[in-house]
Amino acid sequence: MADSTKTAKLTIDGNDYELPLYSPTAGPDVLDIRKLYAQAGVFTYDPGYTSTASCDSTITFIDGDKGVLLHRGYPIDQLAGKSHYLEVCYLLLYGELPSPTELEDFENRVTNHTMLHEQMMNFFRGFRRDAHPMAVMVGVVGAMSAFYHDSTDITDEWQREVASIRLIAKMPTIAAMAYKYTIGQPFEYPRNDLDYASNFLRMCFAVPAEDYVVNPILSRAMDRIFTLHADHEQNASTSTVRLASSSGANPFACIAAGIACLWGPAHGGANQACLEMLKEIGTPDRIPEFIARAKDKNDPFRLMGFGHRVYKNHDPRATVMKESADEVLELLGVENNPTLQVAKELEKQALEDPYFAEKKLFPNVDFYSGIILEAMGFPTSMFTPIFALSRTVGWVSQWKEMIGDPQNKIGRPRQLYLGETTRDYVDIENR
Ligand code: SDX
Repeated sequence: MADSTKTAKLTIDGNDYELPLYSPTAGPDVLDIRKLYAQAGVFTYDPGYTSTASCDSTITFIDGDKGVLLHRGYPIDQLAGKSHYLEVCYLLLYGELPSPTELEDFENRVTNHTMLHEQMMNFFRGFRRDAHPMAVMVGVVGAMSAFYHDSTDITDEWQREVASIRLIAKMPTIAAMAYKYTIGQPFEYPRNDLDYASNFLRMCFAVPAEDYVVNPILSRAMDRIFTLHADHEQNASTSTVRLASSSGANPFACIAAGIACLWGPAHGGANQACLEMLKEIGTPDRIPEFIARAKDKNDPFRLMGFGHRVYKNHDPRATVMKESADEVLELLGVENNPTLQVAKELEKQALEDPYFAEKKLFPNVDFYSGIILEAMGFPTSMFTPIFALSRTVGWVSQWKEMIGDPQNKIGRPRQLYLGETTRDYVDIENR
């Protein structure tokens, strides 16, 4: 917890209150209002938590005005260019880049937890074949608490560690199986001789009838997409995981809650919605029509993959993702992909439009990711499951940080009540 070096004075009804002000290592000062209700008898009001810090954290920092994203202090563009997903997982979980020995040990631990309990296959088979893979992931991850009892006691540090590794290791297997189930193909098991991204691609695209050789271009692009989605401060799904965990619920149930929240089109569901929007636009000549709709207050339509609660300059992940889209599609020989052309022209026209400039709306991480994922062979329904797979390490890291924080207490927001005051019941014959 930061030390309070400054205070802020608040005057209510002629009474002055001194509230501690904390100076973080980066970002704006934070006003501590924990004693406000006890001292002044008032609540604060902040629907959507636009100005509210729910916790202190050392994991990830975003400077929305400068378009900066740091994981344990390391810029996302450096991690995306020089590191790889499991090394970023280690960094997020333990706070420092691993030594070669530490990395090898961590990768071995993850590799040896990639298989699912065999009886969980029956759980998959309870879903309709046309179930959205996110519905399957929410259900199967929540069910993990019924299969992995030896890692549900959050007061036991060893069990917390095992649950963390299990979740990171098994999420690709679960996501791949959710995909296979919806297309009516048999499940593929993970293989210990493949790296994390290659294993996932093989589990998605291999079939028993023929060998599947992972294209290194695709596995490198897949790994980079995992890294770009790994963690992002206290976003909606991470805050969901923290709030669910604050009651002491087991980690599998809490991560399932995070998956459910991520599914929304305003959050992780935007990558699927964005590609569907780009395909609906179809050709560059229809872009003005959609930009006009996005600006029309009477039209609920928004440009999917555009805008962000925190980034008011640019989303550094979108910059890396755009470069990766160019590289991957060229290497795959589909650089003239019409959807990519529409996306680039849409970005150009939107950024030249005063509406988007005034509201500081820029492409976010979801704007280009779907184009790469589609080129890799994934259906749009798998875009958000891949986001959930990638973000699992962020959810788990934030969960571990919270559980290990001695200040940790159950989250219980208050409200601005605008309903009826006390009134007596009226018998139905008198209504
Ligand atoms: C993710 O929080 C995170 O970190 C999330 C994430 C992560 O890694 O975890 O980064 C991942 O969720 C990225 C965002 C994906 N969502 C989308 O792309 C959906 C489209 N974008 C939005 O719906 C919106 O921009 C949000 C939800 C992302 C942010 O919404 P805010 O911060 O609540 O902003 P707002 O809705 O108050 O919008 C401010 C203004 C409004 O106009 P006014 O009411 O002020 O006139 O900007 C407008 C909005 O109408 N606006 C848009 C717009 N986004 C905001 N107008 C058109 N198109 C858009 N995309």
